[in-house]
Amino acid sequence: MKILVINGPNLNMLGRRDKEIYGEKTLAEIDSLLKKQGETLDVEVATFQSNHEGALIDFIQQQSGSAEGIIINPGALTHYGFSLRDALADTKLPVIEIHLSNIYTREEWRAKSVIAPIAKGQISGLGWRGYIAALQTLVAELKGESWE
Ligand code: DQA
Repeated sequence: MKILVINGPNLNMLGRRDKEIYGEKTLAEIDSLLKKQGETLDVEVATFQSNHEGALIDFIQQQSGSAEGIIINPGALTHYGFSLRDALADTKLPVIEIHLSNIYTREEWRAKSVIAPIAKGQISGLGWRGYIAALQTLVAELKGESWE
């Protein structure tokens, strides 16, 4: 089973960027924790980051055929990335939208996500642990594990 973990614009700057909002961990550290969690869950985790919407769409189009689910932090594209949203919807795969910060407690424009309506669910404000929670939940659901 392969899960795509995708990060959008400016998330390559994690660890240096607004640490009090986004935390101390770099994206490489988060990706490595996800891959470790993937090994525990016996799934392949394929990570990708780009600052360009078209590159994110190319990756989604190329990889979705061989993947079972997508976890994505679209960065600011969350709020206006209609092409990204269409590409995600076209995959027909379950998508979990993730944000390190709580987008509902910040500037008003961040509270609107154009991705959320096509997502299975959203995690916002739990920092890097949100990525791990998203992976665990997505894989459990894909494996058909019950809540009990
Ligand atoms: C973010 C929230 C977005 O509003 C912002 O543009 C980001 C990061 C988050 O992870 O909290 O780049 O997606």
